[in-house]
Amino acid sequence: MDNYYIAEDVRYIGVDDTDLDLFEGQYPIPEGVTYNSYFIDDEKLAILDTVDASKTNVWIDNLKTELKGRQPDYLVVSHMEPDHSSNIKLLLDTYPQCKAICSAKAVAMIKRFFDTDYSERIIVVKEAEEISLGKRTLKFFMAPMVHWPEVMVTYETFGGILFAADGFGKFGTNHTTEDWDDEARRYYINICGKYGASVQALLKKAATLKINMICPLHGPILKTDLGHYIGLYDTWSKYQPETNGVFIPYCSLHGNTEAAALKLQEILKSQDPNIPVKTCDLSREHVSYAVSDAFRYSHIVFAAPTYDAGIMPLMDDFIHHLQSKALQNRTFAVIENGTWAPVAGKKMREAIESLKAMTFVEPMVTIESTVKESTVEKLKELAVNLLK
Ligand code: FEO
Repeated sequence: MDNYYIAEDVRYIGVDDTDLDLFEGQYPIPEGVTYNSYFIDDEKLAILDTVDASKTNVWIDNLKTELKGRQPDYLVVSHMEPDHSSNIKLLLDTYPQCKAICSAKAVAMIKRFFDTDYSERIIVVKEAEEISLGKRTLKFFMAPMVHWPEVMVTYETFGGILFAADGFGKFGTNHTTEDWDDEARRYYINICGKYGASVQALLKKAATLKINMICPLHGPILKTDLGHYIGLYDTWSKYQPETNGVFIPYCSLHGNTEAAALKLQEILKSQDPNIPVKTCDLSREHVSYAVSDAFRYSHIVFAAPTYDAGIMPLMDDFIHHLQSKALQNRTFAVIENGTWAPVAGKKMREAIESLKAMTFVEPMVTIESTVKESTVEKLKELAVNLLK
């Protein structure tokens, strides 16, 4: 992507990555991802973050276009995860007068990643410390565990620009037209979902600032309707549901559990045509989409067969992801299947009740091998209770 204008003397110098299949080696990114980097052309020249090693050459070209033969003064290091930090050494070695600005916790990480002590070239900043570039001033706020412990965000005081590190990031390049909410939710929940309290702390700091623009490390720069994005972050990080509706993640060995899940969807829609209901076949959708939807919806119905005297592994894995991301504060129900000795329902219920503030809705529905009239009656009873 060509460099583009963010504000007077502030340029985007990041890169698109449409070559990577799995972000962090685990999340599909069908529309790619961006590694955002910014350049401020003031009396002092500042670079905010580098990019992933796979895109070094493109980024260096973008940077050189802005430097026009000059030497940068500062590199702000918001976050040490390699998708942003990989080129710190290259930059500092190429431009000997450039100093890195970072949090105290980032210092040890720089040494670990690059096996080089840049102690003479590092400016460690504390909470609310400022560094003037000339017209513009950078003010730093610590944001530990959004998403790593060393993270800090930078507020540019002249233009009211918040450089938000991983906060407000999104999967997809800036050339896609997809809705922000879905891929930003999937990014946030899967990457930072566990750290809701840390995000809440950052939002409280942000509320004291006049923010005109948010520049994240992934995805589009947010210039309008900021209340919408901040509101979603507030909802997600408080573990509150975003949509009053029913999400039905299921897995199925021979189609019978799937039939029950789809039947429940049909019954719910017949009882309340306006209620959002979404199903997800865990065998065919990547778990990151299901985790994202579990955080989105107020009610979740888990449907899985018994397998090896436990839960079918796809559902077991999904629930493990929800535990890992600390899902809480939802209403849930369970549908199990078993031809002899069904136990998946009991085990799913126990696992989900280990999460905070989860409310179980009766009845637990047991499919005895296939969906029968008696199963449908139980599903109808469950639907009534879910819609109460
Ligand atoms: Fe985009 Fe936590 O790095």
